[in-house]
Amino acid sequence: MNPAPGVAVISGAGRGFGAALTAVLAAEEWTVYGIVRPGYAANAGTDGRVRFLEWDIAHSCPKEVSQALAEASIDVVVNNAAVGSSQKTLAAVDPESLAQLLDNNVAGAVRVTQASLAGLLRPSAGGRRPLVVNVSSRLGSAALQANGEFAGFGTSYGYRLGKAALNMLTLSLHEEFGAELDVWSVHPGALATGMGRSGASKEPATAASELLRELSEPGGSSPRFFELGSSAPLPW
Ligand SMILES: NC(=O)c1ccc[n+]([C@@H]2O[C@H](COP(=O)([O-])OP(=O)(O)OC[C@H]3O[C@@H](n4cnc5c(N)ncnc54)[C@H](OP(=O)(O)O)[C@@H]3O)[C@@H](O)[C@H]2O)c1
Repeated sequence: MNPAPGVAVISGAGRGFGAALTAVLAAEEWTVYGIVRPGYAANAGTDGRVRFLEWDIAHSCPKEVSQALAEASIDVVVNNAAVGSSQKTLAAVDPESLAQLLDNNVAGAVRVTQASLAGLLRPSAGGRRPLVVNVSSRLGSAALQANGEFAGFGTSYGYRLGKAALNMLTLSLHEEFGAELDVWSVHPGALATGMGRSGASKEPATAASELLRELSEPGGSSPRFFELGSSAPLPW
């Protein structure tokens, strides 16, 4: 059974998994604050349940966005926005670009969580326990990396470092706020999106429905790292 509708904040709501999740939640009558880059919202049209907020999360939160989020009662924040990188060998890593990627993919998630925190900690109409979902990747698992699971994958240094740091953000948020909210890291699967590997065939709408199903399970554990569509935990 799907959960009673709530209020979600989703970063990177303009395309890929974030757009699919926005559509899936809105279809289930959730209210969604979709964070998109400046310039997107004007062309996106409006849907009564979706409000697009323009914010490049590599920069500080614009005043109108922080006001909108501060006034909301938020059930779920999904830190989904991220960029990839092609710097796959140490020699190819440009430290300046690496710092920019981490600013976007890690500090961006911190900024969105900070801007949403007051709304998350405000009791919501549905009485849900608040939840932060960090859209990570199994490539962020230090344990799987140490086991050599990704040898030959050719994943960039920046992407791996960013997803491992995002997992540590999950654990750090749990340490600070575990009494008040739940925190998950999720691997969405190999998605057929702009960022997906060639040959990836899982539709983002499928992953979005899987996350909706997880939101319907009351009292799931926290902190938690798992792959959508599988109940098995992933090692940190
Ligand atoms: N695809 C996969 O197979 C896969 C596997 C494991 C994990 N993941 C993770 O799943 C999440 C979604 O991936 P995806 O495949 O849907 O990626 P995607 O299609 O490339 O979409 C990424 C979204 O993030 C937005 N974004 C990035 N930086 C932003 C910023 N600074 N401010 C605002 N928006 C920003 C992009 O906006 P623009 O459209 O404006 O660029 C885009 O809407 C990511 O965290 C990714 O790492 C994906």
